[in-house]
Amino acid sequence: MITHAIILAAGEGKRMRSALPKVLHSLCGRTLAQWVLEAVRPVDSRPLMVVGHGREAVMEALKDSARYVVQSEQRGTGHAVMMAREHIEPGSAVLVVAGDMPLLRPETLVALTESLARDEYEAVVLTAQADDPTGYGRVLRDAQGRVTGIVEHRDATVAQRAVREINTSVYGFRGDALLSCLDRLTCDNDQGEYYLTDVIGLLAEGGRKVGAMSCSQQEAMGINDRAQLAVAGEILRRRINEDHMRAGVTLLDPASTYIDAGTVIGPDTVVYPGNILEGGTRVGAGCTLYANNRIRDSRVGDGATVESSVLLEAEVGGGTTVGPFAYLRPGARIGRGCRVGDFVEVKNAAIGDGTKVSHLTYVGDADVGSGVNVGCGVVFVNYDGHGKHRTTVGDHAFIGCNTNLVAPVSVGEGAYTAAGSTITEDVPGDALAIARCRQTVKEDWARKRRSKYEEDASK
Ligand code: UD1
Ligand code: CA
Repeated sequence: MITHAIILAAGEGKRMRSALPKVLHSLCGRTLAQWVLEAVRPVDSRPLMVVGHGREAVMEALKDSARYVVQSEQRGTGHAVMMAREHIEPGSAVLVVAGDMPLLRPETLVALTESLARDEYEAVVLTAQADDPTGYGRVLRDAQGRVTGIVEHRDATVAQRAVREINTSVYGFRGDALLSCLDRLTCDNDQGEYYLTDVIGLLAEGGRKVGAMSCSQQEAMGINDRAQLAVAGEILRRRINEDHMRAGVTLLDPASTYIDAGTVIGPDTVVYPGNILEGGTRVGAGCTLYANNRIRDSRVGDGATVESSVLLEAEVGGGTTVGPFAYLRPGARIGRGCRVGDFVEVKNAAIGDGTKVSHLTYVGDADVGSGVNVGCGVVFVNYDGHGKHRTTVGDHAFIGCNTNLVAPVSVGEGAYTAAGSTITEDVPGDALAIARCRQTVKEDWARKRRSKYEEDASK
């Protein structure tokens, strides 16, 4: 049976106390909505999402990874599904998932839809045993253990509140069964809302087969506030870190290692504490990430070493050493076997293989060849107050300490610039450019000055 998924994401999420819609809050590089979309994907690659509160922002963020229906007034989970009525086909199955459950696993949703088909249930509800079921809907069963309905915490009797089996807000329905109950929902409850949970009771009352499948308490967690967001974030981080460790990555302290869901790391790479690897970052095999790097959407080649540095949309070749305290900004492309040392900033610049930029240097808007040595304190002067200009440095050139390269300018292959030069004109290959004042030495100047002060003092 074909299964279509519906994700409920129209609620305001008041308890987040946020300008951002709840489902757009992020955990490990994905929004809550994206985590749910990922979990649902094996069942339905382009689910229907019920949006309402902050819907423009939600649709803008998720683009066409979902289809959308609007629930302009939030009148309950049952009402949200009514908004999707036209998309429910009587002959197919429907998976309904709340949009604020980032810990759901894809396997669980696949198993739920399979049990719907295999066991010929009209509906299957995903449940969990909660240590503290306060606030959740409780699953009611008869003496034979058959599900008879769900009662919300606020509508429940004292005896019902003692039940620890909770409704996770994930369900599989046969389309026709769901459609037949939607019109019969009422808002006769404490909140005056249309509850989707009542569909389960209506089906059971009508003698239709209703099942329950259980999952772990952890998977069932819905995010309602930022404290829960942090708890879920820690669980997801642990899952991601475990996957990397099983794939051959050494994390010296997983608890202080923050790796986004989309990041890839090769085997035998060692990650020290305090690393933050974000977005689509790809770190090669056999690398060493010493403590305290932030690496976002960057590539780091095999065998590279990075320490206490920030890399944003940058590329680092194999065997290259970066840091400590380097800042590689978007468009920095460092070759293989290079050294980019302390307090070096590189932006929108390609640096060839084997080149060394060891300390205190800014390289912006440049093409630097291979085997180049860039001395200490060099500035690629790329900005004239209006526009940016490029600098070219040929292979095996030597840029002396404290050189300013005022772009647009080029230094030819094998050429040298003398320390302290401000280079404003092109330097031909194999030349030496000196662009500074000649040194003047005033013999005895210091001694005379000293004796003058001594004379004044003795008067
Ligand atoms: C719901 C269930 C409860 C279950 C709990 C699990 C109902 C009535 N109750 O309660 O049995 O134990 O989830 O976390 O379903 N939404 C809309 N439109 C609305 C209202 C809600 O799209 O008008 C969406 C929300 O954005 C959210 C989801 O539905 O993603 C669940 O809504 P929420 O208000 O969080 O339901 P709970 O009170 O937690
Ligand atoms: Ca909830």
